[in-house]
Amino acid sequence: MDITAKEDATPFLFEDIKSSERPEVVLANAPKFKELIMQYECAIMEVNTKLHVLNNEFSHMHQRNPIESIKTRIKTPASILEKLNRRNLPLCVESLENDLTDIAGVRVICPFPDDIYNVAELLTSQDDVILVARKDYIKNPKVNGYRSLHLIIEIPIFLASGKKNMKVEVQLRTIAMDFWASLDHKLRYKQNLKNSEEIALELRECADIIAGVDLKMQNIRKKIQ
Ligand code: GTP
Ligand code: MG
Repeated sequence: MDITAKEDATPFLFEDIKSSERPEVVLANAPKFKELIMQYECAIMEVNTKLHVLNNEFSHMHQRNPIESIKTRIKTPASILEKLNRRNLPLCVESLENDLTDIAGVRVICPFPDDIYNVAELLTSQDDVILVARKDYIKNPKVNGYRSLHLIIEIPIFLASGKKNMKVEVQLRTIAMDFWASLDHKLRYKQNLKNSEEIALELRECADIIAGVDLKMQNIRKKIQ
């Protein structure tokens, strides 16, 4: 039985949440929401296992790991509410499942740029994985210099009630791109910097230098092999 599209779309605790002083707490405790989060946790486990299998096999064949580390996260109730409000979306299960594609997030850190494309291709070509969207911020970096490959995939989880496809956002980046993105993320929380334009320019320069170093290191690896 496929229950993917037939979820109950009635807004859950809509009024309670909107009028509450701590809407994120009300949402976090809503049974329907808790059930959905459990399902996203299962989807993350599935993706995590697939990535570990790919890493183990590659390492067996080529004596090195194409994945350095994997980080996973579930979007917090506060951040989910903020995004729904920002996008003027209704607070219902259907909207969470169809309109928010990053409730479940997996970040894959690879040693080299070509590992990113290999891992992404191997993951999305599996016959139970559906590629919903792909944004290549490596070939087309953001103006601030941000680089990563973003995939939205759908992956089935097998529940007592049947099979259900879940959306997961997978971000793939090199160690160097991740280093840059974590500093950029920290600076975003310090919006009232005096010399913010100058800092943005310097960060952009760092991103470009890092991209050059990534390619140089990849060429060295190819020479060694
Ligand atoms: P969101 O509403 O934030 O999900 O953005 P979006 O739907 O336009 O998706 P996009 O693919 O642009 O970005 C999704 C995620 O990528 C963000 O939540 C961040 O984790 C990451 N990201 C995107 N741009 C940047 C950036 O400039 N700097 C950093 N540090 N992370 C970024
Ligand atoms: Mg996001």
